[in-house]
Amino acid sequence: MGRTVYLTTPIYYVNAEPHIGHSYTTILVDVLTRYHKMMGDRAYFQTGTDEHGEKIVQAAQKRGIEPQEYVDRVSDLFASTWQDIGIAYDDFVRTTEPRHKALVQEVLQRVKDKGDIYFDEYAGLYCVGCERYLTATELKDGKCPDHEVEPKEVKEANYFFNMEKYKGRLIEHIEANPGWIRPERFRNEVLSFLKQPLEPLCISRPKSRLEWGIELPFDDAFVTYVWFDALLNYVSAVKETAKGEDLFDALWPACNHVIAKDILKTHAIYWPTMLLAADIPLFKQLDVHGYWLAGDSKMSKSLGNVVRPGSFDRHFGIENLRYFFFREMKFGRDSSFTYELFVERYNSDLANGLGNLLSRVSSICKKNRGGAIRPVPEVTGAEEALIDKAATVAQRYPEHFEQRDFHLAVEEIRGLLGATDNYINTTAPWKLAKDPDRAEELDRVLYTGLEVVRIASILLHPIMPRTTRTILDYLGDERPTDGSVPWDQLTAWGGLTAGHILGDVPRMFPRIDEKKLEQVSAEAEAEAARATAEAAGAAPVRGDFEPIGEEIAIEDFAKLDLRVGVVREASLVEGADKLLRLMVDIGEERPRQVFAGIRSAYPEPAVLEGRHVIVVANLKPRKMKFGFSEGMVLAGGGGTDRLCTATFKGDLRPGDKVS
Ligand code: MSP
Repeated sequence: MGRTVYLTTPIYYVNAEPHIGHSYTTILVDVLTRYHKMMGDRAYFQTGTDEHGEKIVQAAQKRGIEPQEYVDRVSDLFASTWQDIGIAYDDFVRTTEPRHKALVQEVLQRVKDKGDIYFDEYAGLYCVGCERYLTATELKDGKCPDHEVEPKEVKEANYFFNMEKYKGRLIEHIEANPGWIRPERFRNEVLSFLKQPLEPLCISRPKSRLEWGIELPFDDAFVTYVWFDALLNYVSAVKETAKGEDLFDALWPACNHVIAKDILKTHAIYWPTMLLAADIPLFKQLDVHGYWLAGDSKMSKSLGNVVRPGSFDRHFGIENLRYFFFREMKFGRDSSFTYELFVERYNSDLANGLGNLLSRVSSICKKNRGGAIRPVPEVTGAEEALIDKAATVAQRYPEHFEQRDFHLAVEEIRGLLGATDNYINTTAPWKLAKDPDRAEELDRVLYTGLEVVRIASILLHPIMPRTTRTILDYLGDERPTDGSVPWDQLTAWGGLTAGHILGDVPRMFPRIDEKKLEQVSAEAEAEAARATAEAAGAAPVRGDFEPIGEEIAIEDFAKLDLRVGVVREASLVEGADKLLRLMVDIGEERPRQVFAGIRSAYPEPAVLEGRHVIVVANLKPRKMKFGFSEGMVLAGGGGTDRLCTATFKGDLRPGDKVS
């Protein structure tokens, strides 16, 4: 086993649904985790949700539900979104969990006992979006630069944490460890901020104003300030993992936080001073990336310009977005996200690049060699140049990853693929195929082309795990990428196995045309306009999160033929303790037989006789043990004790359409 790495994303606020900005950090950590595993390291990946604080309460109130119900919903939405887009985290921490609350209280008590927490009155400018007090110098035209709203003046008595006491030790640590905060720009920003005295950090909120939070262990009239609570997730969740293990000693020394620059101050100043006060060693590394911008602004829910990962996946494939992220963003700098730019990069690098190389070499191999891979041929200067290039790219790749210069790693892979494309153009295998005397040359070119695709797929594997697995399987390289095969072996020239027969060429990276691009951009614009109007105070035209799953278009809904049915007979089904057998009249020659899973609600099924119900009339009949089920009856409350069939008030007839 190599090194141990404990990678974290920020825990996201649940006042917004996941968007592409959050997805970037989460995908980045997913890629790093896969990269480390491929290198033989032990990598542990933690993400989660930040569920306390004022803005969560405001969001719940806006929807007229209790904070707990609200946070449960949106936290689930985060977890399921990550699962849907193939994020392989080890643990998902929620700040409302008992394991987290317990640690927060323990740390607060410890710091209080040390004398670093005191009671005082304070007045300041609070930004609810940032959930922190802003200093006058941070404001732009009197507004928070990130949320573009004026902070509110708050004056109240609270508990304070004496950050200033630990400033000297923090500066020393930053100076002695030049790579601790990366890239250097952010390290310098923090050092220059630390030149001023550190104001005490207000770490409580009176319950009279905010009840939603973790109670202070030493004063039950107050809850903990959300940042003091949230930052501790990085410790609480490894002290007690979801599986109940204590991995703190194994993981904490290897903790690598990944954040965007919006939360630099909280992670580079609040957090380390908190750790010093709590006598917990400092984390190992803080990596800070820039923003994904939509136009000139940071993509964010409050500015109404978000792109949702699920919808992106349906339109264009999430792995293609992962590629775009890594190709496009220079770590630490801002980058623009537009659909146009994505499509441009996709078409040139993936459709015309990797995809085209794979399909053109494959089709010549299939046409002329029955798809068989021949043994590694003798090479000439042209191949040697490519072999050297592939070796250099593979050797520098881990260096780029370690330095977080991901875009350079991708640039070099593109360079390798481009050089191979030129090589194919020059050697023209389609011409070689016509000349039986040049069979050996053809073998060499085919091998070289496919071997480069194989190596590029290994290199791109952490970024596009599913896509590259398909290519590798197709090429016959089924070796695992979990570190059990050393990196040098995976990337060494000659990995294609002689004798492997290529199957059907996987249809990879179809070009995205203008029409599709226009359609998706138009939908996105309409969505952004709706969200902006809503943020500006217009009545919500639609909820600003979609906890309910995949959206369908009106045309999809129109495919359902729903009819009014009248239950003529209802009986128990022997041997099926959940089912009732209903004979439902929907105006046809004979009633339909429908088996419905509603027995728990109707132990005496006769009560259903005569009831008007909704029948899905065009559902394909399903053969069951007891006979055919010829439709479906709609019911509400499944999974609860409120289960009952949907019915009507009004004079409807069997067979009337329901729409
Ligand atoms: N809850 C706090 C973090 C607490 S960590 C102890 C928070 N949450 S957040 O939901 O606002 O997430 C902020 C993070 O989301 C950023 O630091 C970044 O990782 C990610 N991003 C959100 N929008 C983004 C962009 N437009 N661009 C890049 N990253 C983005 O702050």
